[in-house]
Amino acid sequence: MHKPHIPLDEIRAAVEGCRKCPLADGRTQTVFGDGNPQARVLIVGEAPGKNEDLQGIPFVGAAGKYLNELLAIAGLRREDVFIANVLKCRPPGNRDPRPEEIELCTPYLREQTRTIDPEFIVTLGNFSTKFILKTEVGITRLHGKLQKAGKFKVFPIFHPAAALYDGSKRVALENDFATLGELLHASQPADGAAGAAASGQSAAGAAMADRPAEAAASDGRSAADGAQSASSQEPRYEQESLL
Ligand code: URA
Repeated sequence: MHKPHIPLDEIRAAVEGCRKCPLADGRTQTVFGDGNPQARVLIVGEAPGKNEDLQGIPFVGAAGKYLNELLAIAGLRREDVFIANVLKCRPPGNRDPRPEEIELCTPYLREQTRTIDPEFIVTLGNFSTKFILKTEVGITRLHGKLQKAGKFKVFPIFHPAAALYDGSKRVALENDFATLGELLHASQPADGAAGAAASGQSAAGAAMADRPAEAAASDGRSAADGAQSASSQEPRYEQESLL
């Protein structure tokens, strides 16, 4: 039996009142997430930075400006997607999230995901990728390769902030957002503008061509376990884990 989904407003109220960890003491406000509650694409970042803490909205600083440009490459506007983070409060000095903070905070992300029920989850950077896929394989190996977590298609991409520090990541980021656009187009419902049956090799197939064995091996599964039959029109996935 399925648990009923919790309305987003209820999850938001719980986040706003949360004092489960010391990050609550340092925050200006919580950053619940923002966007279309019925989005096909849920974007998951790491944690709020200074600007997000001040405004209460994810990705409004420099990384957010770049994220808007990247979304446009995939044919998406901010209002088409829902954007959330692993942590809802800013870690001091923008340090990395700690394991205990992730453990205490991610039930909110889990419920947001269940309620929004997206087709795709785009994980930005290592923290969201490792949490959603329950993997230790890093983003450098996983980015641009379609994965699966439970019923969700998961597409890991470098964090946009990484490209602000290391310009060489821009090409990978932009290519991966272009692939995301192709995946979205290829899986559109048959009554949409484009049918699901892409001709020749699907974008997902292309994204999976160069598969790292560690991705599936990391949770003790063989490479073949998560993959669907090659003859299927559905994309094949590299890994399956429960959200
Ligand atoms: N980086 C993130 O991961 N999330 C934000 O909201 C802003 C910057």
